[in-house]
Amino acid sequence: MSHTMVIFGASGDLTSRKLIPALYRQFCRGRLPTPTRIVGVSRSPFTSEQWREQLAQSTQKFVKDDFDLNAWNGFAEQIFYQAGDIENEQDFHRLAQVLNEIEAGQKTDRVYYLSTMPQLYAHAIAQLGKAGLNIDTNGARRVVIEKPFGTDLQSAQKLNIEIHQTFREDQIYRIDHYLGKETVQNMLALRFGNTIFEPLWNRNYIDHVQITVAEEVKVGRRGGYYDKSGILRDMFQNHIFQLMMVTAMEAPVRYTGEFVRDEKVKVLQAIRPYKGSDFAQYGVRGQYIGYQDEEGIPDDSQTETFAVLKFYLDNWRWRGVPFYLRSGKAMSCRTTQIVIQFREPPHMLFGNEKTCRPDANRLVIQIQPAEGMQLHFQSKVPDSDMKLRLSELDFRFDSSGKELPDAYQRLLLDALLGDPGLFARSDEVEQAWRIIDPIIAAWKSPAAPTLHPYEPGLWGPTQSSEWMEEQGRSWFDVCPII
Ligand code: BG6
Repeated sequence: MSHTMVIFGASGDLTSRKLIPALYRQFCRGRLPTPTRIVGVSRSPFTSEQWREQLAQSTQKFVKDDFDLNAWNGFAEQIFYQAGDIENEQDFHRLAQVLNEIEAGQKTDRVYYLSTMPQLYAHAIAQLGKAGLNIDTNGARRVVIEKPFGTDLQSAQKLNIEIHQTFREDQIYRIDHYLGKETVQNMLALRFGNTIFEPLWNRNYIDHVQITVAEEVKVGRRGGYYDKSGILRDMFQNHIFQLMMVTAMEAPVRYTGEFVRDEKVKVLQAIRPYKGSDFAQYGVRGQYIGYQDEEGIPDDSQTETFAVLKFYLDNWRWRGVPFYLRSGKAMSCRTTQIVIQFREPPHMLFGNEKTCRPDANRLVIQIQPAEGMQLHFQSKVPDSDMKLRLSELDFRFDSSGKELPDAYQRLLLDALLGDPGLFARSDEVEQAWRIIDPIIAAWKSPAAPTLHPYEPGLWGPTQSSEWMEEQGRSWFDVCPII
C-alpha cells in the first residue's frame, strides 16, 4: 500500500520545525511505509527542487546530529511541492491531478495535514470535498487538524459540523501533541501495566493530584495570538486536560482508539461544573510583570499568563479528591509533572504528628524534560532513635541519555497508518470547551478573581502558594534535575 501526506501550510514554521524532521526521523528508522510521498502545498511559488533544498537546510538545523546526507537524499526523492491557494477552487483540482500523477494509480492512503491558520480549516476542507479529494475508493482519506480546534464551544461545534460535511469522524485526526509524548503514554503503561499502583489510585488513598505545566519562556513573538487566547485556551482546554484524562481515566477494555477515547471522555464528563462562588474561589489568575510591554500586547491587557484551576470529578473513584491544574509562562523552569499526593498515615507511631512529613507518600511523574518518576517516602535515619527522613526512589524513563522521540513522530506515523487513538475525538473537544468556556467568561466579567502580577522566574504569583496553603496543602515547586 502506498501513502501520501499532503501538507497545507508547507512554507510555515510548523512544517519545517516539526513535521518534516519527524517524518525524516521515522524514515531513517525504517518506520515510514514504503513508498510515502510528501506533497507540500502553500501559496509561495517554489518548485519541488527548491522546497527540498529549503527543507534540507531546516531539517539539518532541527535534527542536528541525526542528519545524514545520504539518508536525506533518499527521503527527499519522495518530496514534492505544488503551489496553491486555499481560496482557489481550481488549485485543488490541479492538486488532485498532481496527486494522481505522483501516485500513478496505486492504491494510496492519503493524509491531508492542515498546518494553516485555523481560520482556514473549514474552507480548506470544503475545497478538498469539492475537488473530490475526500473520496476514499482508492485508499483511505484522512485529515489532520492542528490545535486550536475552535476558540470556544460554539466555534468548535460549528467547525465539527463543517468538517463532517466532507469527512466522517473516523477520517478526522485532531492533534494534541501532548498525547504523542512518550511519557504521557507511559502514564497508561504505569497505571495499567502494573498492579501495584491501581489499588491505591483512588479516593481512599489519594489526598489530591497536582498537574503542573510550567514554562520558562515568555510569549515571545506570539503576542498577537496569545493575548486573545490566554492560558486557559492555550494550555488548559487541551494539553492539561489530556494529562488529567490519562491520570484519572478507568482502564479501557482494550488499548485501541475508541476504547481509550471512550474512557478519556468520561473523565471530562465527570468534572463538576463550577457554580456561583466557585468561579472566584477555585482558581488563581496571574500575569507576569512585563507582559504588557511585549510585542503585540495592549498596555492594559488583562490576559492571564498563569492560572490554577481546581476541579472535582464526580465519580466513584475520585469523589472528593481535588485535582489542581496549574500552568504558566515565565516560570522558574520548564517542567511538566503530575504529582499524586497520597494521604498521611492515620496514626503516627514515630514521634508526634509533626514528624509526619506532608511531602512523603508522594509519586511525582515527570513528563518533561526529566522524563521519569520519583516515589517520595519516609525512612529511618540510620543510627537514630526512630527519626524519619524523606527518601526517594528515582526512575529515569530513558537512562541511555538519548533524547526521546518528538511527539510528532508518533502522531504523524499513526495518522499515516490510520490509528486514531492518540487524537482527540469531536465529543472530547466539545466537552473540554463546555468546561472551560464558563470559566473564561467569568474571568472576563467584573466578578473575576484578581489578576495577580508575578515576577518572571518564580512559580507564579505568591497568592498561588497562599491559596494552596489555605487548603492545608502545598505545591511541589521543584525544578527537575535533568
Ligand atoms: C502549545 C502552546 O500548544 O504548547 C504553547 O500554544 C506552549 O504556548 C506549547 O508553549 C508547549 O508545548 P511543549 O511541548 O513545549 O510542552
